[in-house]
Amino acid sequence: MKKISIIGQGYVGLTIAAFAGEKYNVVGFDKNARIVKQLNQGISHIEGVNEELLKTLVSKGKYRATSDETEIGNSEIVVIAVPTPLTMDRKPDLSYIESACEIIGKNLRNDALIINESTSHPGTLRNIIKPTIEKFSTEERAHLYSISPERVDPGRVDFNQKNTPRLFAGLTSAASEKTREFYSAFCDNLVEVSSPEVAEAAKLFENTFRQVNIALVNEFAQICHALGISVHETIDAAATKPYGFMKFKPSAGVGGHCIPVDPTYLAEVAEKNNVPATFIRLANSVNREMSEYIVSRIERDHNLNVVGKNVLVVGVAYKPNVADTRETAAELVIEKLRNRGALVTWHDPLVREWNNEQSSPLSGADITIVLTKHEIDSELNILKSAPYVFDTTGSIIGAHRL
Ligand SMILES: NC(=O)c1ccc[n+]([C@@H]2O[C@H](COP(=O)([O-])OP(=O)(O)OC[C@H]3O[C@@H](n4cnc5c(N)ncnc54)[C@H](O)[C@@H]3O)[C@@H](O)[C@H]2O)c1
Repeated sequence: MKKISIIGQGYVGLTIAAFAGEKYNVVGFDKNARIVKQLNQGISHIEGVNEELLKTLVSKGKYRATSDETEIGNSEIVVIAVPTPLTMDRKPDLSYIESACEIIGKNLRNDALIINESTSHPGTLRNIIKPTIEKFSTEERAHLYSISPERVDPGRVDFNQKNTPRLFAGLTSAASEKTREFYSAFCDNLVEVSSPEVAEAAKLFENTFRQVNIALVNEFAQICHALGISVHETIDAAATKPYGFMKFKPSAGVGGHCIPVDPTYLAEVAEKNNVPATFIRLANSVNREMSEYIVSRIERDHNLNVVGKNVLVVGVAYKPNVADTRETAAELVIEKLRNRGALVTWHDPLVREWNNEQSSPLSGADITIVLTKHEIDSELNILKSAPYVFDTTGSIIGAHRL
């Protein structure tokens, strides 16, 4: 049975490992020793990765997590699934990809297929991954290179690795062929495109499409409020059109590792090629400014004074039913409230601990702001938690809404 190694055992890498483990011997390499230890005990830190399956794979010797980079040696396939975040000044940060390439270059002593699943700008596979691996290889190697951008939507149950169509392209036709063979073991619908750059650009465009449409609906929410009409009812009305309209919901902004981040990769590469990324930059700032809009709406409802008020933020995860707080809009909302003198605590039954603070009980506040509502959160308890409840999700009847 083929040995494959997956670099990075987070949302993407572990999800792939769980599917691939049924057909291949999988080594999950991660720099985080705590995660590695848990994974080898069959404990999953990712929603959607079934612990029973993980335990079975570990006990059958089909999956092993490790922090020892030499263990990726002799793999026939290596999948890169490391973060591609933004730096502090919100520029693309490819340092994790470069580090993964160094590890691959130094430790892989046979010719292998290298697949990148991390999201990055067009040209990353050809101009960064391949040359970096070659630079660190101790001897000349004839690796094959391909890209297959990940589309996993954490917490989602109707679409998974098996039934979500997967784009892929190799640098050579041999790489494409082997990539198809690899994924066809656990994915039903493989879509080959003509170059890695098309696959890389398609991934960025998918998430930019969401970013721009979310910004549009967030702006629309502000217009509707100023006009005294319900944005929710208006969107539902527009969505009765059976073609040419796609429903997006207003919110406190975008979060997670993809939507607030990937469009900036596209904007940067556009501007480097002297093309203005006007829409993308604007969408980004409209979404980031939603926190200011929400806080000022609440302030206006309290005679422009929230000083000393106990404000409870419900939901610091960036979306319902996951514990992921990366790039969460809660960060900006809480910062802005604290800057205005409010005493802010937060409640999130899935996150529990975040930024060195603990989740607080859902009660006893002057003001409750709902940013994310998990299924296990009771609407009734949210409504009872404060005399004034502002719901940015639009789902709680009886609350003040966006
Ligand atoms: N999370 C999503 O929903 C999602 C969806 C599609 C695509 N992606 C893309 O997939 C990539 C991975 O994202 P993720 O959400 O899985 O990230 P993650 O933070 O959940 O996991 C990444 C893991 O990589 C490890 N790591 C970092 N550098 C490493 C290195 N040099 N060697 C070994 N391990 C290393 C980290 O310890 C971490 O456990 C990103 O490019 C992201 O944009 C993510």
